[in-house]
Amino acid sequence: MNHFVSKNGELFCEQVAVADIAREVGTPFYLYSKATLTRHFQAFDSAFAGIEHLTCFAVKACSNIGILNLFAGLGGGADIVSGGELYRALKAGVDPKRIIYSGVGKTEQELRYALESAILLFNVESGQELERLQQVAASIGVHAPVSFRVNPDVDPKTHAYISTGLAKNKFGIPIDAALDLYVRAMAMENIAVKGVSCHIGSQLTLISPFIESLRKVKGLVERLAAKGIAIEFIDLGGGVGITYDEEQPPHPQEYAAAIMEELQGVHATLILEPGRVIVGNAAILVTEVQYTKSNRGVDQVKKFVVVDAAMNDLARPSLYGAYHSIVPVHDKQAEREVVDIVGPICETGDFLAKDRELPQVEQGDLLAVMSAGAYGFSMSSNYNSRPRVAEVLVDGGSYALIRQRETLASLVQGETIPGGAE
Ligand code: LLP
Repeated sequence: MNHFVSKNGELFCEQVAVADIAREVGTPFYLYSKATLTRHFQAFDSAFAGIEHLTCFAVKACSNIGILNLFAGLGGGADIVSGGELYRALKAGVDPKRIIYSGVGKTEQELRYALESAILLFNVESGQELERLQQVAASIGVHAPVSFRVNPDVDPKTHAYISTGLAKNKFGIPIDAALDLYVRAMAMENIAVKGVSCHIGSQLTLISPFIESLRKVKGLVERLAAKGIAIEFIDLGGGVGITYDEEQPPHPQEYAAAIMEELQGVHATLILEPGRVIVGNAAILVTEVQYTKSNRGVDQVKKFVVVDAAMNDLARPSLYGAYHSIVPVHDKQAEREVVDIVGPICETGDFLAKDRELPQVEQGDLLAVMSAGAYGFSMSSNYNSRPRVAEVLVDGGSYALIRQRETLASLVQGETIPGGAE
């Protein structure tokens, strides 16, 4: 459930008319609903109320500090994958003792920054990373709390680009090789072995792959116990999908119940790293129609709606062929037609929707690209030298600009002409 609703043919976010915000901040912009963000976080987190757990929001899904701060206030932690995300999480007020650090390529500098920040856990993904972490921890004179991210070789049945738990993917340590690494880590002076983690992919619509990997993780925990290695944390990653179109992902309640049942008798704190399921349907991208045009071929007429948002603002359709519902902000009950909704970027791959049935629109009309909260703004870029768009957070009847639209000057910030004038 979300708080983007149509009232008398006009789209509202909570109690604010989307068009009113567009008038003030201009287009395009990302528009988040605080009530939806809160509801989704709480629905997910409370589904696990029956067991010791920690919900670490996956910062990569939506990294605005205004939103991270909201989750921190609800008791959330953060799952980070870079020094930049650590900086954001700390700026947003996330307790370092609720921050976990995933990713295959942590640099020495990043490891140092995270150790100095005294985060909860490093999800280590290779033997070499373990060695490096030991060295950095020794140089500062601290102990690094470690979970190993294992690769359970389970098919998440999702898009190939976002499948991470198969043996052919770059992530994690093969689960059968993990035991040796744990034994090695136990002998390291500055490493404190704490847990096991895994994350098999994103936008999963089935529960069974989660359970299959959890069973494999439990098997490892038992083998570790037999060697006298006790595990405090089991991290199941993120990945629960959402409805963009007609997908029917499990409800968090159902997902949590299945996991909790599987964890009966296991004495460890469960860590979860949800991203999409919390923010995905809590934001829209608002864009304005610039032009409509038809290109006539021999046997077809192709209609285009050219809007002011593009693949640099929302990469998902171009990158993954992802579907986002698109609706007019004002429903004028116009006749429907099939169009491609495209941006101004100079590539044919720049589209928000293809062959989509949409009520006829005209120049100046506003469109809402739905379900844009996850991997929307956070994946945006300056391609074609387009300033990144504004982000706005609605709270009931009011709203706040949580990120200003970038300016033209910000596009060249940090660039210099060698030998040129200042
Ligand atoms: N934990 C780890 C280690 C991850 O790599 C990810 C996502 C998550 C948690 C959160 O997964 P979620 O709950 O959001 O599914 N850009 C793609 C999705 C990439 C996902 C990357 N990892 C998209 O737009 O679909």
